Amino acid sequence: MKGIVLAGGRATRLRPLTWVISKQLLPVYNKPMIYYPIETLVRAGIDDILIILSPENSGLFLNLLGTGEQFGAHFSYAIQKEPRGLAEAFVIGEDFIGKDDVTMILGDNIFDEDFSEKIKNFKSGGQIYIKKLPTMEEVKRFGVVEIDENNTVLSIEEKPEHPKSMFVSTGIYTFDHRVCEIAKNLKPSARGEIEISGNPSVSNTFLEKGELKAFVFDSYWQDAGTFDSLLEAANHMAEKN
Ligand code: G1P
Repeated sequence: MKGIVLAGGRATRLRPLTWVISKQLLPVYNKPMIYYPIETLVRAGIDDILIILSPENSGLFLNLLGTGEQFGAHFSYAIQKEPRGLAEAFVIGEDFIGKDDVTMILGDNIFDEDFSEKIKNFKSGGQIYIKKLPTMEEVKRFGVVEIDENNTVLSIEEKPEHPKSMFVSTGIYTFDHRVCEIAKNLKPSARGEIEISGNPSVSNTFLEKGELKAFVFDSYWQDAGTFDSLLEAANHMAEKN
């Protein structure tokens, strides 16, 4: 199992914080944000990790993270020139992934969960990790996953106006190597990006093949991409320490 941390993008929602520094280098309590998704992958037993960066602050990330030795991992780096969508990670990462499976995590996603069992048991297809949120307003900010009583996925929609479910797709995903071919052939969605959870998207492609599994978890999760969620994540980590 290979790992990818996607830390590209322009983080326009966090300006002026992100005019001259990348979102994933901002502090979340006592660590730079990107430490958390890296630690989530390492905790899950993944130690061969590709870190995808936007060009602007790539040198700072290299200074901070280096070879990966301090995390007990080995890091490689790649550049995403333009933010063309989350699924572009699998196009950029194609050679790195090769014939292996891959777990991709977004550079602003903060978890307490230990995903090692679920990732160790992964066989093929796609696997997403979903969480029930308390309010419709929160649900609408994310990829919304409709499931039946056996947790079989019925539909996935990106930031829908009228969500069909209270479960959202968190920013960690496991796929087999076919994800690279699928991502390369995806048409951009209405917002001009190649998507993981939209329509069309890599998750929807695996869903159509009947090869998408969803795991529900209930522990702490935050997408720290807005002022309020960044503050909330920092407070959570401060309480934990
Ligand atoms: C992205 C995905 C969305 C997912 C979320 C998790 O949204 O597009 O499906 O639920 O990450 O953090 P973004 O934060 O890029 O708007």
